[in-house]
Amino acid sequence: MNTVRTVTDLRLALAPERRAGRRIGLVPTMGAFHDGHLSLIARARKECDVVVVSLFVNPAQFGPAEDLESYPRHESRDAALAQTEGADLLFAPSADEVYPDGFATAVTVEGLTGVLCGDPGRRGSEHFAGVTTVVAKLFNMVQPDRAYFGQKDAQQAIVIEKMARDLDLPVEVVTCPTVREADGLAMSSRNAYLSAKERSRAPALNRALEAADSTVARGERSASAVLGAARRELHAAGIEPEYLELRSASDLQPVEHVNGSTLLAVAAQVGKARLIDNRVLGGTSS
Ligand code: PAJ
Repeated sequence: MNTVRTVTDLRLALAPERRAGRRIGLVPTMGAFHDGHLSLIARARKECDVVVVSLFVNPAQFGPAEDLESYPRHESRDAALAQTEGADLLFAPSADEVYPDGFATAVTVEGLTGVLCGDPGRRGSEHFAGVTTVVAKLFNMVQPDRAYFGQKDAQQAIVIEKMARDLDLPVEVVTCPTVREADGLAMSSRNAYLSAKERSRAPALNRALEAADSTVARGERSASAVLGAARRELHAAGIEPEYLELRSASDLQPVEHVNGSTLLAVAAQVGKARLIDNRVLGGTSS
């Protein structure tokens, strides 16, 4: 596996592959790989001829009070893991390569980005503007046939799908299941911030989602009953969620009654780590 750092080298490496008609898969990441990232690379390996992994800790999606400086960076370890998983190319540009002097363009998706994580009182929609701008750039740089994202960041995946649809980007956005630790905690690069004590409380997020799912499985459909079951699990672990909301899994509109495609999404600050998780209730998604 080669590592390239410039758009010119990336295009040079991919031109013959594209000319030969090979299917190109892209897995965008910010590094610090865990099994969640690796599952996306493995899926791309299965479905594509050429697998490109991008590694870029994108400053534009971090708020001023967020962890850009301390975000874990382990490029050589990540490169080895990506290679083991079968990646063909690692694209690891500098911030100057992605945002040269005078960079002045943004790609924003309206409507979906002002709720949940994008609520103005939380990270704000600027977070998603940072994500969609960099992902639009990555799509143009790599020109993949397919791009792989995790259900773990459900809102992000929905926003990126919408961007690709609205802008007629010729890429198929594939959303892959959330990979969890044995005790149910969704894997995340930010789990590294948890102390041992906090780590033992963190699986309550997944237990809350499971409690809500069991409530739905028993035939309960009202939002208040389903949310109540989830909230009890969080409170039992001493966790006050930043949000715990039921929304349509397609357009993130609030819902009062759970149906087949209802997303239950949760965010909570546990120590220094801001944790998020979600589940499509009554569905098959993990
Ligand atoms: P990052 O947090 O590094 O995540 C890269 C990809 O891995 C995302 O699509 C994310 O949803 C997926 N992922 C993370 N944890 C996962 C888990 N436990 N199971 C399955 N997939 C998981 O998300 C980003 O980077 C950035 O916002 C990015 C899209 C790269 C744009 O900068």
